[in-house]
Formats: sequence, structure tokens, C-alpha cells
Amino acid sequence: MRKTIIAGNWKMNHTGADAKATITGLVSRVPKDVKSEVIIAPVFPYLPMAVELTKGTPIHVAAQNMHWEESGAFTGEVSPAMLVDIGVDHVIIGHSERRTYFNETDETVNKKVKAALAHKLTPIICCGETLEQREQGIMQSWIEGQIEKALAGLTKADMANVVIAYEPIWAIGTGKTASAAQAEEVCSIIRKKVAALYDQATADDTSVLYGGSVKGKNVAELTGSADIDGGLVGGASLKVDDFMAIIDNAIVK
Ligand code: PGA
Repeated sequence: MRKTIIAGNWKMNHTGADAKATITGLVSRVPKDVKSEVIIAPVFPYLPMAVELTKGTPIHVAAQNMHWEESGAFTGEVSPAMLVDIGVDHVIIGHSERRTYFNETDETVNKKVKAALAHKLTPIICCGETLEQREQGIMQSWIEGQIEKALAGLTKADMANVVIAYEPIWAIGTGKTASAAQAEEVCSIIRKKVAALYDQATADDTSVLYGGSVKGKNVAELTGSADIDGGLVGGASLKVDDFMAIIDNAIVK
């Protein structure tokens, strides 16, 4: 079902003590009856600690990536079964940094999405255009293509467990937030694409997040938009006060 989600993508930040302090701080401050779904995505080594510290709280734990295979000769990789084994319930798939620096493609994204669903992990699938693509006027076809390829082979039932995040590459870590109108335009394009691939009810039930310099001061305008169901937050998810400001100010529709 469609819900408001605030997900913190820690990227390659926080060693153990900082991770522990941040999680403990969030655990003490996120209200038990918080209306949005709150997710944190620390680096792999601290996932078990995150799962342990958030037990019995409304905070969910996500991995930032995974492989699609069960096990085998894939040095440096982590499988979906391993994430499930330690109690993780979400996984970010196809972040633009993975696509840019680690050669992830729409095809590997699709394999990972299918593997996540097969293991009952909720994939948070990222898509987004570069500034160049936006300026060339090919943003819409690019986004629609990414969505179509990421979701290839998924059933309507699968879509109940899929979250999509629109993250314009030009707005990630740059301090340049897409305006609420720009973010809404693309989140609406994504929802229409889901409706075209499945049906309107499926599209209406899909949570579509915006990511790219989300902060406490812009989250209300973003989440107040019809097709934006929350935020995938990088920099502002690293400090308890900053992340709490986003959770507190998000509009739950
Ligand atoms: P940012 O990152 O909030 O630091 O821009 C967002 C993301 O990459 O998920």
C-alpha cells in the first residue's frame, strides 16, 4: 500500500561509534506512533547492530545494495539471503552512485529487484536523469525507460512490495533540490508509467519518493505534492537532529 516513507541513505559514512550514537538517538526520538515509515540504511558491517538497536521500534533497516545471486564466487558481494538472515527488510537498488561508479545497469537493477522480491525484501528502486539529459529534453523518456527496465517481469502482486525513488542526479549531494514542482512532475510521470505497465490501482498504491538534497525545511513542500510519498535522504540523514526535522516536517497524506 502507498505510504509516506522517510529513508536515510547513509552511503559510506559513520564508523561504529557514530553509527551507534545516531541509531540510539533516533530510537529515543522517533515517536512510537510515527505516521511515516522510517528507514535507515547504514553500511553493511553495521546492519546487524542497526537491526538489534531498532528492534521493537518503528525504525526499519535497509541495505544500500546487494547481489542477485544466492551465494557463490562473487568476491566482495552480499546476497539477499544474507540480508534476510540478519533481519534487514529493505534494500536500495540502483542508486545513481552505484550506476555511475560501479557499472550497475538497468539489467542488473532488474535482476536485483527480482531477487529482493523473491526474498521478501522491499526494494527501493532509484531512477533519475542527469542535468545534461534534462537540458536535452529527454528526461521523460529516460525515466520511463529506467522504470520499464527495472520493473520488467514483475507482476501486479510484486508491485505491492516495490518502492520507487526519483533522484535527479543533478540534485544529489549538491544542495540543489529539485523544486517541488519539478519533483512532482517526474514523480507523476513515474506513477503514470506504472499505471500504463499495470493499472491505475497499482499505480495509486505505489510509494514514489523524491531524493536529492531533502532537508527539514523543504520536505513539507515536497511531500505535500500529490505524487511524492516521502524522501530518500542522504546528507541530512547522518545527524539525528537533521533527520528528525525531516521526519517531523514530512506531510503524511
Ligand atoms: P542527498 O542524497 O540527500 O545528500 O542529496 C540523496 C541520495 O543520494 O539518496
